[in-house]
Amino acid sequence: MSGIWGIDLGTTNSVIAQLVDGRPVPVAVGGSAIVPSVVLFDEDGRAVAGREARNLELLHPERAVHSAKRKIGTDHRYPVALAAGLREVTPEEVSAEILRALKNGAEQHGGLAVNDVVITVPAYFDDAQRRATLQAGALAGLNVLRLLNEPTSAALVYEQAGLAGDRPRTILVYDLGGGTFDVSVLEVFEGIREVKAVAGNTHLGGDDFDDMLVRVFLDHLRTHHGVDVREDARAMARLRRLAEESKIKLSQDTALRVREEFIATSSGAPVHLDVELTRRQLEALIEPLLASTIELTQRAVKDAGIGPEDIDAICLVGGSTRIPAVRDRLAAAFAAEVHEEIDPDLAVGLGAAVQAGLLQGVAVERILVDVAGHTLGIRAFGELDSGYAEEPDTFAPVLRRNTALPAERAEEFYTHVDGQARIEVTVFQGEAARCSENTRVGSFFFALEPAPAGCPVRVTFAYDLNGIIRVHVSQVGTDNAKSVALSVADAGTRAQEQQPALAERGPPTAIERRARKLLDDPAFEHKADLAVLLDAFLATHGAGRVEAEEHLLDFFFEVEADS
Ligand SMILES: Nc1ncnc2c1ncn2[C@@H]1O[C@H](COP(=O)(O)OP(=O)(O)OP(=O)(O)O)[C@@H](O)[C@H]1O
Ligand SMILES: [Mg+2]
Repeated sequence: MSGIWGIDLGTTNSVIAQLVDGRPVPVAVGGSAIVPSVVLFDEDGRAVAGREARNLELLHPERAVHSAKRKIGTDHRYPVALAAGLREVTPEEVSAEILRALKNGAEQHGGLAVNDVVITVPAYFDDAQRRATLQAGALAGLNVLRLLNEPTSAALVYEQAGLAGDRPRTILVYDLGGGTFDVSVLEVFEGIREVKAVAGNTHLGGDDFDDMLVRVFLDHLRTHHGVDVREDARAMARLRRLAEESKIKLSQDTALRVREEFIATSSGAPVHLDVELTRRQLEALIEPLLASTIELTQRAVKDAGIGPEDIDAICLVGGSTRIPAVRDRLAAAFAAEVHEEIDPDLAVGLGAAVQAGLLQGVAVERILVDVAGHTLGIRAFGELDSGYAEEPDTFAPVLRRNTALPAERAEEFYTHVDGQARIEVTVFQGEAARCSENTRVGSFFFALEPAPAGCPVRVTFAYDLNGIIRVHVSQVGTDNAKSVALSVADAGTRAQEQQPALAERGPPTAIERRARKLLDDPAFEHKADLAVLLDAFLATHGAGRVEAEEHLLDFFFEVEADS
């Protein structure tokens, strides 16, 4: 017996997925569904591929090959230092080792023979690259039913997750992986997927972002320790690994301290790396590269003969789309919804399994995904990463709509004034740029330790499958932190009501009713200010309550005097 399999043979990572009861499921190979596209030869020329090879690469960079996809279809040869001398390995042979590891892993996993497969390739791959990929499949003992374009594959899985409607839709697939950037405009209707335009850069991806951080590390080692490790292959491999790990952490955290012991020696003494990195720093480094992906995306839209307003949905594919700045830039450039509900590392592989099923006449079921139905964010209480928030009503998104759950994300904000005593964190959900037009989820105060204006405050949202968000606030550089749990399970239905989701409140007091009446009045002009004061009043208990009430009364007095 055999099963139905789809393979994403990626530059950095590969995935094998299987159709189980009509639904695509990734197979864990060597403990993970994401299999590094790295091959390592032992001294006798035997190959291992995947995670083990990636780990050993640090010790034996001279016998490891990665990113072979970049050279497939060319006459490039990889020199591999074996005991018997140098051996020249073709990109097809390297790719075949990866495919073999996927095949073996999947066979061990499910006990079924893996023979018939669909393999994905970039839409821009030319004939030589496609033939070389087929050849790699044959070398691995696979019967390749079809080569499927990666964006088509991703679109297929998004359609299966309910993105397709009852009319033709134009979908933009933005795929930023480890080594390549690909953007495609597709038209999808009733099972027909047509690629209208493609653009991209075959040498732009996460590896380049890693290189930027490696440069930061190298500079640090040079200026602080006077050492240059550029010629030290092992140190460089470690720095590259460290750079990638740091980059990935910065998608979730806004800052981190990178420490690595014994990275080199200087006059016989060990040198340790110890650097602080921030998300902003990384964003500044990669900004020109991200800008070029947006330009290419705009070009693809133009080539498809349509305008940006014609895009119905943007699907994020590739591990590098987890970088928050990628999403922010796309959201700023296009009005279309940005979708990321399918794991961006797996989308292409899952689509390949769906295609394999369709080729063999197997019924494919709808894919179910759990996503954040609304964007969650807070009222900006100072300078934003994207500029200065003058207005107290500015909504700062932290976790965007359609993010797969569970999810966790952090943002940094800055205090307004010197010695600011506290900040109020008010959580909203919704898609409007103004807090007052979104749904208020809840709020709380966070007392600050004395600090000058512009003191960074980090806000982390963790959103689980039950619709509970945990908000963690911390004052950067201190131990001062606070965690609060809020429930947003039913808040989506209250979009118009402006009701706090914190349930256990008594009936509204007279002052609250007075405030709400004004907030409901379409002619009332100072809603944002009032909303801030009302939030503060509702969230304050004990001694502060009287003060918050006074602020509200003062406000009423002022607006009445005004009118
Ligand atoms: N959370 C994250 N934040 C930032 N980058 C990430 C994150 N997770 C993964 N990456 C990066 O994503 C890249 C791998 O993406 P992916 O597996 O989609 O690439 P690939 O399909 O092998 O490459 P390609 O599409 O170029 O052939 C790596 O550079 C990795 O560091
Ligand atoms: Mg890819």
